[in-house]
Amino acid sequence: MADIAKRYLITGAKGCIGAWVVKNLVESGNSPVLFDLDDKSSRLSLLLKQDQIGSIGFVQGDISSFEDVDRAVTQHKITHVIHLAGLQVPFCAADPVRGARVNVIGMLNVFESAKRHRDQVRKIVYASSCAVFGPPEHYGKKAISADAPHYPLTHYGAYKDCNEANARVYFLNDGISSVGLRPWAVYGVGRDQGKSSGPSKAIKAAVVGRKFTIPFTGWVDLHYADDVAKIFIRAAENGVDAALLYSPRGSVIQVDEYLKTLSKVLPAAGELIDARGGTQQVAYDIDDPNLVRDLGPLPQTSLEEGIRQTAEIFEILKRENRLDVSDLEA
Ligand SMILES: NC(=O)c1ccc[n+]([C@@H]2O[C@H](COP(=O)([O-])OP(=O)(O)OC[C@H]3O[C@@H](n4cnc5c(N)ncnc54)[C@H](O)[C@@H]3O)[C@@H](O)[C@H]2O)c1
Repeated sequence: MADIAKRYLITGAKGCIGAWVVKNLVESGNSPVLFDLDDKSSRLSLLLKQDQIGSIGFVQGDISSFEDVDRAVTQHKITHVIHLAGLQVPFCAADPVRGARVNVIGMLNVFESAKRHRDQVRKIVYASSCAVFGPPEHYGKKAISADAPHYPLTHYGAYKDCNEANARVYFLNDGISSVGLRPWAVYGVGRDQGKSSGPSKAIKAAVVGRKFTIPFTGWVDLHYADDVAKIFIRAAENGVDAALLYSPRGSVIQVDEYLKTLSKVLPAAGELIDARGGTQQVAYDIDDPNLVRDLGPLPQTSLEEGIRQTAEIFEILKRENRLDVSDLEA
């Protein structure tokens, strides 16, 4: 149901999670405003019709520019921000200073704009990441709680750690309410870049009949993109005044099991898809009962169903000659 009292700004709206958030908001009758550096709509066009995309407000801007962010918040009388704009692990590793400008300064700009419009902006939901946690061996054998200590091994994880601390300070000093969500690895249509996009690319490769190697092995926690988008929206609807943080849990499995499930849905994958490489250096066995306690029952698409839905969309795009496979080379 549309809530006319809410005016959403989605930063990074042209990215994978952003596209799914926009799809969910538009389909429930909302008119979000999109903010992104990217003026194309490649991922959005995989999920929405052209006339739907054409009717959505778009601000092209750089999240690392306060003026760009504040212009969008001011001009569109934004009340809720879902902040997703960011650079992923490999891009932050390749250029840590640029990574900090986008991932840290960008987040500060969102909060500074909210501070400037404190009577207008009521909630910020931002993407943190399980990359704040270190390798599993830091945490022993038990599932780890959302407030477990952080030992990030990447610049990306360190920026997210810094963002979580800044969100807390903005609440303490300025009363700005926020919810940080820490997905582990998102999969689905539109997930075409970043270290953990391998499982999504593997589905696409199986659909087009190409060989593909997922570049890591071991344990993962995979979240279906549509579920993650719905959790971000649900968090934005939460009226609690606080700086909250949650670690949603998806399907926690070994990559070998993922390959078996993929082959069950797409038998051709058995011959085409494999996995090689080291394990991901991020704790995966996370347990956060507060999320369901505070937000209620959340969507939890099974891995098999998530793969099936993703493959079905890729099949349709293939039939329509709209399936871009350039990410399989990357
Ligand atoms: N995908 C995952 O598995 C995952 C897991 C945990 C956290 N996250 C976080 O969720 C957020 C969204 O992830 P995603 O998978 O949709 O990423 P994505 O790479 O698909 O999309 C990121 C979007 O941000 C935009 N962007 C980049 N630099 C920008 C700038 N300077 N100004 C404005 N826009 C800019 C890009 O154009 C892109 O549309 C990110 O903050 C990411 O760190 C993602």
